[in-house]
Amino acid sequence: MNADKMQEFAKARRLFPHTKKTVYFNSASYGPFCLPVEKAIIDNLKLRLDATRDDTRMAMATGEALRGGYAKMIGASKKDVGLGLNTSFGLNVAAFGLPLKKGDEILVSDLEFPAIIYTWQAAAQQRGLKVRVVKSSNRCFDIDALGKAITRRSRVVSVSFVQFFNGFKLDLKEISSLCKKHGMYLVVDGIQGVGVETLNVKRTGIDVLSCGCQKWLLGPQGCGFFYLSEEIRDSLANPFMSYLGVDWKMQYSDMCRYNLTPFDSARRFELGYCVILNLLGMKASSDIIGALGVRNIQSHNHALLDRLIAYIKTDATYTITSRLEARHRSSILTFTCDDVRRLYKAIIKNRILVSLREGSIRVSAHLFNNAADIDRLIKVLKRFPGKR
Ligand SMILES: Cc1ncc(COP(=O)(O)O)c(C=O)c1O
Repeated sequence: MNADKMQEFAKARRLFPHTKKTVYFNSASYGPFCLPVEKAIIDNLKLRLDATRDDTRMAMATGEALRGGYAKMIGASKKDVGLGLNTSFGLNVAAFGLPLKKGDEILVSDLEFPAIIYTWQAAAQQRGLKVRVVKSSNRCFDIDALGKAITRRSRVVSVSFVQFFNGFKLDLKEISSLCKKHGMYLVVDGIQGVGVETLNVKRTGIDVLSCGCQKWLLGPQGCGFFYLSEEIRDSLANPFMSYLGVDWKMQYSDMCRYNLTPFDSARRFELGYCVILNLLGMKASSDIIGALGVRNIQSHNHALLDRLIAYIKTDATYTITSRLEARHRSSILTFTCDDVRRLYKAIIKNRILVSLREGSIRVSAHLFNNAADIDRLIKVLKRFPGKR
C-alpha cells in the first residue's frame, strides 16, 4: 500500500474514539461506532426532538444511496440490492421465497453459524424440504464432501462467506460452479466477510447474499442488506409483502391507492419503513469503507494479522487454528494454547477486546487497527504466565 493510502488509514483511525483507550479486535462480534456514525444519529435525534420538518424524503434518499453503495461494494447493480434488518432477513427471503418443492434438499455445513441452520430448518418444516449436513474436514468447509453430498434432489447450498469461528474464507466461485453444474441455488451469509474481503457476487455466481451491517460494516445493530440475482428475482415468492414494496413515486399525499406496481427490483422484498437512525448510521460508516476501498482494507487487515502470525510462529506456547493459504485467509485469525480461558482473561484484562470462540482466541483486524495494536497483543502473549 502506498504512503497516501497509509495516511488515509491513520486518518480513519482518528474517527474511532475507542482507539485512544482500547485495542479493539472484535469486529467479528460487532463493530465499534465512529464519530460520523455518532453525528449522523445524534443530528437526526435532534431533528426529531425539534420536530421542525419531516425527514421522510431524507430517509428515502439515504435508503437509495445505501442500496447503491452496497451494490457497488459487492459488484452488483442497485436494482439487485434491498435493505433488510440483519443477516437473517435475507436468508429468510431465500428460504421461504425460492421456488422449491417438497423433498428438495438444502445442503449446509456442520460448522455453520446458527443463522443459516435455524432459518432453513424452519423452512424445511413448513415447506417439506430436507436440510442435509455436509461434514467439514479439519474444522473447515470441504468442497469435496459437498460434491459427494449432492443428490438429484439437492437444490440449494447455503453457506457463510467466512466461517465465524476461525475466519476460513470459502471459495465461493468453486462452490458456485458446482451449484451451476447441478442446477442448485447458492445462498450466502456474507456478514463475516463483506466490506473487508473483496467479493463480486455477479462474477462469483451467487444467487442470494445477505449481510448484517453491525459487524465489519460498522453500522448499528438491526440493519442489513440483501442481494438477489436478477436471474432469480422474479421467480422468488415474497414472504413479507409491504406497502413500501410498491412504487409510490415519492407521492405520499394520496395513500388509498391499492393498485400500484411492485418495484421491479430487490426493493419489493423490503419490509416497510426502515429505522432512519439506522439508515443514517449505516450510510456514515459505509462511506468510510467506500472511501478506503474494500481491497485496501483487506490488504491492511491481512498485513496486521501477518505481524501477529509472524510472532506466534516463533512461540511454542501458541498454535494457529486458522488456515493460512492465501485464498482462505480473511480478516479473522484464531489461535489457541493449553489454557485458552486463562489467556483470554489475561488479554481482556489488558484492555484488548478479542473473542473466545470454539476453543480459540479470535482476533478480528479492521481498518481502525494499526501495528501498535498488534504489538500490544503480542506483549500480552509474551508475558502470559501460562506460557510453556
Ligand atoms: C456468520 C454469521 N451469520 C449471522 C450472524 C448474525 O445474524 P443476524 O445479523 O441475523 O443477527 C452472525 C453473528 O452474530 C454470524 O457470525
